[in-house]
Amino acid sequence: MLKFYTAGESHGQALLAFVSGLPAQLPVDLKFINNELHRRQLGYGRGGRQKIEKDCAEVFAGVRHGKTIGAPIALRIENRDWANWEKILPIEATEDDPGTKKLVAPRPGHADLAGAMKFNYHDARYILERASARETAARVAAGAFAKLLLKEFGTEIASHTIQVGHIRLERLATWKQIRAVSSDLDSPLRCTDPVLQEEMKSEVDAVLRAGDTVGGIFEIVAHDVPVGLGTHAQWDERLDGRLAQALMSVQAVKAVEIGDGVSIAGSHGSDVQDEISYDKAAHRFRRFTNRAGGLEGGITNGENIVIRGYMKPISTLRKSLHTTNMVTKEPVQAAYERSDWCVVPAGAVAGEAMVALVLADAFLQKFGGDSLAEMRRNFENYARQIDEF
Ligand SMILES: Cc1cc2nc3c(=O)[nH]c(=O)nc-3n(C[C@H](O)[C@H](O)[C@H](O)COP(=O)(O)O)c2cc1C
Repeated sequence: MLKFYTAGESHGQALLAFVSGLPAQLPVDLKFINNELHRRQLGYGRGGRQKIEKDCAEVFAGVRHGKTIGAPIALRIENRDWANWEKILPIEATEDDPGTKKLVAPRPGHADLAGAMKFNYHDARYILERASARETAARVAAGAFAKLLLKEFGTEIASHTIQVGHIRLERLATWKQIRAVSSDLDSPLRCTDPVLQEEMKSEVDAVLRAGDTVGGIFEIVAHDVPVGLGTHAQWDERLDGRLAQALMSVQAVKAVEIGDGVSIAGSHGSDVQDEISYDKAAHRFRRFTNRAGGLEGGITNGENIVIRGYMKPISTLRKSLHTTNMVTKEPVQAAYERSDWCVVPAGAVAGEAMVALVLADAFLQKFGGDSLAEMRRNFENYARQIDEF
């Protein structure tokens, strides 16, 4: 079973990720991992933090001579901003405590107030430090390991932006287009349509001018996924449910759609199924549509997995919102912390990592082995069963 944990706060010394359950002898490409981290930092509409950080993963355990050794992997990503916060948020109690940069005006849309009440602080600082989406850097590093495993079996994951504010890509993009834009480090919003992308950029500029923020939708595609991952047999093993939970856990993702899940709810049954045929020459079943997004009954059906994350607009606004001081209980304006104003492409990279981690776990459940070679034998054996079906 693939497990991962993250630790670390937004302005702490570092973010940490721990990954266990990967087979031994999986080649580890650090350049690839760091490129994933770089992709997460990009995107039109990001705030000043990305200028301070240059995310880079250091591996502390679980990898030797460029390959996993079947032991837990430990990773560290330095927070360069720590230098500015070391005195404000020291680990040890100090005599001349400079204060924590207390946050007593909780920001609506953040964990600030509920978290402060729950953990019994009249200061949301300790809450926001961990609730911050800076944590997604650790998820992306862990997810890069999952992607490396999936690649060994031909499965790749990419994403693109399909909506920013009210500007939406209406036509379908091909896997080739999505893959190309997903890895394009110069693409400002990772939209496959360059004309529409300019309109999206204008939307981002407009909200910046207004001191506001904007949300949107990203789409993640997993390509070349074998039929038969996940199962219909138990509710918590259905892969659609597992993927939805994983994607929903990304900060600011407020809804998840698999395939055409949202629009088909308002259609008739005869219009929305992916009819099945058999290609005798190729010896395989085919579907000419993929409205189910590659999942039927919680099981992969061999088509691309298509899953969308709907991101709310960022909650921290320069044009600040009404709130209530946690100590005085008087009405005040919400605190403003340096902030992004559009994070759809970055959210997509975090989403890709979560999808990769769930899929890699499903691969391990189905084809698991202690070494990559053992896992490959299991995979090839199963591939024969599918070929002969
Ligand atoms: C990559 C990424 C960057 C984010 N950056 C910010 C930010 O700069 N400011 C902000 O208010 N929220 C930001 N968010 C969203 C918040 O972390 C999130 O809204 C908040 O933690 C509350 O969680 P919830 O929206 O899931 O309920 C970001 C989210 C992601 C995925």
